[in-house]
Amino acid sequence: MGKIIIKKGDITTEKVDAIVNAANSRLAGGGGVDGAIHRAAGPSVLEECAKFGGCRTGEAVMTGAGELPAGCIIHTPGPRWRGGSSGEIGLLRNCYRNSFRLARDRSLKSIAFPAISTGVYGFPIEKAAEIALGEGLKFRDDFDEIIYVCFSSGDHEVYTRAYDKLKR
Ligand code: APR
Repeated sequence: MGKIIIKKGDITTEKVDAIVNAANSRLAGGGGVDGAIHRAAGPSVLEECAKFGGCRTGEAVMTGAGELPAGCIIHTPGPRWRGGSSGEIGLLRNCYRNSFRLARDRSLKSIAFPAISTGVYGFPIEKAAEIALGEGLKFRDDFDEIIYVCFSSGDHEVYTRAYDKLKR
């Protein structure tokens, strides 16, 4: 059974088989973690992204990792929060599910996630953490390590509380 790790940090430094990028449906790069990943990875990743002609919200695609220490990058556009009655919860769940499936189907053993949709896209972090960790518990037998990289101490506290609640 894989280890679930919650840590504060910068996902671009993670030395794992795959890091997950909170992308947009155009796979065009952007700010937030998307911007940080493309800045650190270098232009080859954006060039590879362009070949997909976009990616639907909740779906996931894989590219190389350029200059990053990670083995590859899984790009998944999360849903923009619109109050919770436009299918956002199911779409965010799909981001995690499809990223896990993509990694599992390539026998990858370690994967790191940012808090998808909780920045620019405004998804409430408490609910997002529950969804992220809930999917991790379902896929943990397929991985050695599942890492949730929180960019702020506040997010780290929310994830830790959510995980304590789920484990009960
Ligand atoms: N490492 C880990 N997490 C990070 C990093 C980093 N280097 N930089 C930012 N984050 C965190 C944010 O603090 C937030 O908790 O990633 C989480 C997701 O926030 P965003 O990056 O804003 O992503 P999202 O809310 O999914 O919005 C996606 O923003 O950057 C654009 O192109 C992107 O259009 C897309 C939208």
